[in-house]
Amino acid sequence: MKVLAFNGSPRGTHSNTDRILQPFLKGARDAGAETETIYLKDLNIRPCLGCFTCWTRTPGICTQKDDMSLLLEKMRHADIVVYATPLYVFTVSGLMKNFMDRTIPLADPHIIKQGEHYVHLPRYKDAARRSVLISNCGFPERDNFSALVDMFHHFMNNHDSNLVAIILRPMGELMRQPDLQSFLSWYFQAAYQAGQELIKLGHITRETQAILDRDFMPIETYVTMANAWWDSQIAVSNAEQEEIETGRPLPHPTSMPTTLQELIAGMPLAFNAQSAGDLQAVIQFDVSGREPGQYYIHIANGKCSAFEGKHPDPNLIIHTPSDIWLAISRGEMDGMQAMMDGKYSIDGDLNLMIRFNELFSVAGTDIK
Ligand SMILES: Cc1cc2nc3c(=O)[nH]c(=O)nc-3n(C[C@H](O)[C@H](O)[C@H](O)COP(=O)(O)O)c2cc1C
Repeated sequence: MKVLAFNGSPRGTHSNTDRILQPFLKGARDAGAETETIYLKDLNIRPCLGCFTCWTRTPGICTQKDDMSLLLEKMRHADIVVYATPLYVFTVSGLMKNFMDRTIPLADPHIIKQGEHYVHLPRYKDAARRSVLISNCGFPERDNFSALVDMFHHFMNNHDSNLVAIILRPMGELMRQPDLQSFLSWYFQAAYQAGQELIKLGHITRETQAILDRDFMPIETYVTMANAWWDSQIAVSNAEQEEIETGRPLPHPTSMPTTLQELIAGMPLAFNAQSAGDLQAVIQFDVSGREPGQYYIHIANGKCSAFEGKHPDPNLIIHTPSDIWLAISRGEMDGMQAMMDGKYSIDGDLNLMIRFNELFSVAGTDIK
């Protein structure tokens, strides 16, 4: 028996989804099944174009040539398909939805009444008739999955497939905590047991299902733990940022800059994020003359911030008298010529200097 599993988490093998899926598949294998896991994040699956060519001109075949054709083929030859997805906005992840959309070549376009519903029947009679849904989510209550389950019942009707097992895991983020692995071992064991039962019996027994549906811990305890964890992550992230930013953030000026400090403080306003792209750089200004000081500009993740102080590891240092830089920025002096004339000097990444105009393209900061 072939069990084909799709993992729709962008975290792939590190996902909470996989922490349920893999013991489940191991159980299935130990009961004699052949299993395969497809990590959707690793594949090239473009969104459905909505052209319905797969229902008209090329029945069963999508016009897009990507990894989906192989998956459709695999689905036709599987006995059980497992849809394993994190809960994203109360439904499947984007990766999973994209994949599910692209399964429409497997359906026949005609609308047929089956029971109480009008559905599309499967195009191929050999397609898998049994499916499993595995999901986990961050919130603690089980009813967060209601839209997901409802959607799957409709989806299954249209594949003429039976949803033979549903494993839903609220408080799913606990599964990735290293300290909780032995505390939760009963759950992973139940997932394994469920995989075995599905192959041997065709369903998960009520006893195993009851274990799978048990809460990991009281909801209030979970919420307290989860919020404390988020606070700790935010604190770590703040600490990391403080470590990098040794300087004092400069507030944006509210009027046209008249001093060099104001000019540098205003550079984030002139920053052209589009031309910066994924540039990560620090430009240090070592200012002498009438307004001596140390300032730096930090460019990262499409953002630009200005600081007073010395950065420990700048990519480019501009050594300039304040009057010279002000004159350049006002267009009273040619920036490149001034550098060649030795009116200011630079250390470090010359390319960054060459890109300066493009990175700060609003009038008042251009190097002419
Ligand atoms: C974009 C996004 C949307 C989410 N939406 C929900 C949601 O609607 N309800 C919920 O309980 N958790 C939600 N979560 C939390 C995930 O379901 C949770 O982190 C889960 O454990 C991730 O599983 P994974 O490691 O398998 O990807 C969301 C997470 C993300 C990143």
